[in-house]
Amino acid sequence: MKNQLQKLKNSVEKEIASCNGLDLLRELEIKYLGRKGELTQILRGLSDLPIEEKKEVGPLANEIKEEITRLIEEKRKEFMSSEVLGKIKEEKIDVTQPGEGENLGNLHPNSIIQYELEDIFTSLGFMILDGPELESDYYNFEALNIPSWHPARDTQDTFYIKDPLTSLRTGEKDRGLLMRTHTSPVQVRAMQKYGAPLRCIVPGRTFRNEATDASHDHTFYQLEGFMIGEDIAITHLVAVMKTMLSQIFKKEVKVRLRPGYFPFVEPGFELDFQCLICSGKGCSVCSQTGWVEFVGSGLIHPNVLKYGGIDSKKYSGFAFGLGLTRLIMMKYGIDDIRLLQGGDLRFLKQF
Ligand code: FA5
Repeated sequence: MKNQLQKLKNSVEKEIASCNGLDLLRELEIKYLGRKGELTQILRGLSDLPIEEKKEVGPLANEIKEEITRLIEEKRKEFMSSEVLGKIKEEKIDVTQPGEGENLGNLHPNSIIQYELEDIFTSLGFMILDGPELESDYYNFEALNIPSWHPARDTQDTFYIKDPLTSLRTGEKDRGLLMRTHTSPVQVRAMQKYGAPLRCIVPGRTFRNEATDASHDHTFYQLEGFMIGEDIAITHLVAVMKTMLSQIFKKEVKVRLRPGYFPFVEPGFELDFQCLICSGKGCSVCSQTGWVEFVGSGLIHPNVLKYGGIDSKKYSGFAFGLGLTRLIMMKYGIDDIRLLQGGDLRFLKQF
């Protein structure tokens, strides 16, 4: 048995020395040390030997097993390091090659138009404000002259969040919070913060509990604008609207002004575009009317000025709230509003 073991050791050593690749080495390992390997079989057979022989052969067999394991590991390390070195030698870096470059994204059409409008309005002396999307009932309705019983609330249904703690904190009646239905709540917030005179725009996201179609979404963008000063009149509103439209479209766009009711303005107007998708012929975007409702506007109601802490006898102001999302649709000829929030990159990459 000792001879058999010695012979096996010699031949394994030779085979390992002449082995020339990782795959062959693995084969050798299996051949001798695997579950059915030659050395493994011998080690298993030790239990059948008489006790004296076992004492002599056992330690030798284990010694040989450890030696073979060590030789195989050494050889493996040798192969692996030469393989890595070989790869490093093969690799060449050409420092004169142009880089891969950054894969930059592009602005959402909403941001493009919003930034354009911000430029136009800041050049007219308006400041840009922001307000909370999760708004209190007070600022969204009450302070805009829409008390809880007012039927105008029905035209702006939204998503309500019950938060009795907030009502306790703010001292407001327990009507909780809601996703703002328009950007108008920032009117009173701004008046309270800055007083009069005041010129602001408020671009932002708004929400309504609304069945969606080609021109209505549950989440859309508006841009609020208001100007408060002494002797501010409708003529100022019309001049600002005209300036904005001519700069955005860089061509003549037909608009119409018609009386509109909003409890927070008096008098109130709706300003519509002639639909640029169908050139006024009628399509799904304009509900076959040829006109798209675009801006609600008017002179700020004295009650709202009072809520904002502004003397309505000394100051007056105009306000408007335009559908930013609809403006984008007209500008780019988009025939379904839902594409703008859909997140489809094939659509978004076109801008
Ligand atoms: C308002 O939201 C008023 N806050 C506007 C206002 C401000 C009036 C200041 C007077 C003074 P209205 O509900 O009409 O008004 O919405 C304003 C514009 O938002 C609409 O003209 C339309 O362009 C857009 N809009 C309204 N609902 C949706 C909707 N579901 N999806 C997309 N755009 C909408």
